[in-house]
Amino acid sequence: MQIPDYLVNEQFDDRYFDVVNAMDEAQQIYFTNNNLIERITETIKEKDTFVIGETGFGAGRVVVSLMEFAENSGLKNACIEYNSVELYPMSAERMLFILEGFRERAGDKIDALAEAYGGINTRISGWHSAEISRPFGRLRLNLWIGEALEMVKALEKPCDVWFLDGHSPKKNPSIWRPELMNEIGKKTKAGGTCATFTVAGAVKRALSEAGFTIKKYPGCGGKNEVLQGVREI
Ligand SMILES: C[S@@+](CC[C@H](N)C(=O)[O-])C[C@H]1O[C@@H](n2cnc3c(N)ncnc32)[C@H](O)[C@@H]1O
Repeated sequence: MQIPDYLVNEQFDDRYFDVVNAMDEAQQIYFTNNNLIERITETIKEKDTFVIGETGFGAGRVVVSLMEFAENSGLKNACIEYNSVELYPMSAERMLFILEGFRERAGDKIDALAEAYGGINTRISGWHSAEISRPFGRLRLNLWIGEALEMVKALEKPCDVWFLDGHSPKKNPSIWRPELMNEIGKKTKAGGTCATFTVAGAVKRALSEAGFTIKKYPGCGGKNEVLQGVREI
């Protein structure tokens, strides 16, 4: 199938996401494989915050997918902190254009994200925050404009889960470099997890060295297998 040009990040000559069903793909790889609903439910009971880290914000498709997934799961009163990073931020208009294909399914979530993102001055490096209120609870978006390693080092709290979504290792090896994976390991709670769409050997090795016990799960969206990792200590 021909992939439309508008999905390509010209900085890396790679697509922001590469399947027609990219929302379902995000839900399988990042949410279902990480037991997200059960784990967020635990934090609701404990009146705690569930902390997410993501490498590669792009068009925010994973955030939109998360809003839909949380809403469909019937969560209430959740408090989610979503920490992400983007080195080459796009305009809010481009975000809306890229996400337009999901409008029928998730138009209200796309608009909520675009409104929050539109209020961020992406010409200024460092942390930016925006609050999104939804029927499932609150999602605080903390977006670092700059390089991924800087963001991970700047994180004050360790994360419950990491979504590693930074282009293919062939096109963008830097976002999978061992130094960065190692820092991600350090910024993961004991028992915390990570997940990614790639099963590249270099990524598996870097994650193992960073303290994650890696498991393969069945793939989706044209991928045979995907990865999930648990940081036991
Ligand atoms: C595959 S796209 C992310 C897709 C995104 N999660 C989504 O759902 O729309 C990867 C993103 O990572 C960004 N990126 C690549 N290398 C980076 C780095 N070293 N630091 C921060 N962001 C980076 C790219 O500009 C791109 O937007």
